[in-house]
Amino acid sequence: MAKNHKGFGVAPGTEGGSSTASPTTEGLSPAQRSRREFLEGTGNTVVATAAISALGVSTLNAAEQADASAAAKTSIQLSVNGTSHSLEVEDRWTLVELLRDHLHLTGTKIGCDRSECGACTVLMDGKPVYSCSQLAVWADEHSIQTVEGLARNGELSPVQQAFVDNNGPQCGFCTPGQLMTATALLNANSNPDPGQVREAMVGNLCRCSNYNAIVEAVVAAGEQGGVA
Ligand code: FES
Repeated sequence: MAKNHKGFGVAPGTEGGSSTASPTTEGLSPAQRSRREFLEGTGNTVVATAAISALGVSTLNAAEQADASAAAKTSIQLSVNGTSHSLEVEDRWTLVELLRDHLHLTGTKIGCDRSECGACTVLMDGKPVYSCSQLAVWADEHSIQTVEGLARNGELSPVQQAFVDNNGPQCGFCTPGQLMTATALLNANSNPDPGQVREAMVGNLCRCSNYNAIVEAVVAAGEQGGVA
């Protein structure tokens, strides 16, 4: 196969064709004519497809925008760290979305966002839940406690202080979730042994693998009087 001046392969039968050849099919053999007609048709199709694609994208964006403004909303009432809130939430919001993005309680972290790591743990009516996997509307008429609600009058809670004293946090990202699960445990069992701590906190992962220090901190908090 010959090469044209740009180095592209030139189809047999078209070698030597002039770049100034007439764009009409006049003077072409039937085979050449049908090829030209095919290519011209293909070009039109490509242009048409591109136009449809562009139209499709802009239609999708418009649809997404309409969807956002038309999202179903529900009025809820909940208590967060002892403060009552009456809010209108979108039905698709997660609890962590409500806490972080709308109530600006950013102490609760999002790690995996799919119920695997426990970084987002908060207490709902005293029980640990993954707030990434709870809808905000499910918190209607419930009481939520986040890590911001642990300290009282500027004093760390006993379990927070025990984490500090026992080097519980490493990078610190999982610490809010660890503290909330530990708080729930100590509220139910004020003096847990290491095995009970490990069992209770199995759903809170620490990517620094600081598990021994975390268990020691929770045990120490219990020995010093729990969280009450
Ligand atoms: Fe919710 Fe990981 S962020 S479980």
